[in-house]
Amino acid sequence: MNNTSGLSGLQGARIALAFSGGLDTSVIASWLQEEFGAEIVTVSGDLGQEKELRGINEKAYQLGAKAAYHVDLKQQFIDDFAFKALKAGALYEGAYPLATALGRPLLAKTLVEVARKEECTVVAHGCTGKGNDQVRFDAGVWALAPDLRVIAPVRHWPFHSREEEIAYCAERGIPVQATKANPYSIDENLWGTSIECGVLEDPTVAPPEDAYQRTVSPEAAPNKPEQVAITFKHGVPVALNDKGMNGVELVRTLNHTAGAHGIGRLDMIENRLVGIKSREIYEAPGASLLHFAHQELERITLDKWTAHAKAKLAEDYADIVYNGLWFSPLRKALDAFVDETQKRVSGTVVVKMYKGTLSILSRTSPFSLYDKALASYTAEDTFDHSAGEGFSKIFALPLKTLAKTEEHPKIPQTLVPSEA
Ligand code: ARG
Repeated sequence: MNNTSGLSGLQGARIALAFSGGLDTSVIASWLQEEFGAEIVTVSGDLGQEKELRGINEKAYQLGAKAAYHVDLKQQFIDDFAFKALKAGALYEGAYPLATALGRPLLAKTLVEVARKEECTVVAHGCTGKGNDQVRFDAGVWALAPDLRVIAPVRHWPFHSREEEIAYCAERGIPVQATKANPYSIDENLWGTSIECGVLEDPTVAPPEDAYQRTVSPEAAPNKPEQVAITFKHGVPVALNDKGMNGVELVRTLNHTAGAHGIGRLDMIENRLVGIKSREIYEAPGASLLHFAHQELERITLDKWTAHAKAKLAEDYADIVYNGLWFSPLRKALDAFVDETQKRVSGTVVVKMYKGTLSILSRTSPFSLYDKALASYTAEDTFDHSAGEGFSKIFALPLKTLAKTEEHPKIPQTLVPSEA
């Protein structure tokens, strides 16, 4: 159901277009020029997708772009987006590490920067009208540049299928990747891959092996486990097996090692912001391992109350990211809370990867709160057992007081001693 009125008044506009080089955004680039005489400036962000963006600017110029930008966002993406979500423990609906959702606000920010530089009054993206990504782009742009007009041609234009778009390209000699159409819709970056459509739309069908892009199946993973040591400094991973690395290198290396052990696959029915339930397959080998290791380190470094409060806020943090509110005061305020907690989250965690599973082998930290003398049941024990009596007495007092006002439970008839 489309209505083109959403695109009125675009005649001659200079438009910054988020450009992936795929079918939709290629057709958008051409169609906006043809239909409205618009000037197109393309913006392609490198978030570390394995599928190379090489040659993307040439493609944009072939399509008639006035200017084409290919921006390396990898370091910014990992340091300022993915690792903030990692520190917060943000997993949407308890599972999805938010790779796509974290990439969108950075792309929106880059779109705005290029739009300003190129004096565009409109920005465009290739999202549909029923997904989360349109909201992330729209809200991301408006939070930074309320005066810019944001359009999503796919919400309004006359094409109803991939075939119609391919026919449009054929008529105009626009090169379309000749390869057989991929049955899935895939979004990928360094933090993870999101895969939907095709047979995956049937929730009774297990994902075919070809749906997975960057992990082997746990069954096909090596029979020998492998261990990896992650060192964190204030909640940020800084070394792998004692080798200091920047975030991009570390995440990329982990994606390959953990992916080879079948780590990080997820088959999920999720609640979209636009109200529908959708089925998505995720692969996030590096992100899954880092979330696991980070949480294990927090278990020994955070005090009980901070840990419990943080776990509740992690859910809010994930919702904020998922719902496109990255550039909101609430996200910034939560980051301030999270960063305060991360002052203690330094140390090293050793994790074992084996056939799709992760297990913890060891955790060490100069800020560890684990006190063996308190926890031990041996002669080393320093815990004051006698204090337990008074503690229980006061702790249970509300229940004891209440019980005095109620009837005592009946003795069940079935309660008989066993024969001697
Ligand atoms: N459901 C995920 C999200 O909203 C991913 C969206 C994009 N998915 C895709 N296969 N293109 O963050």
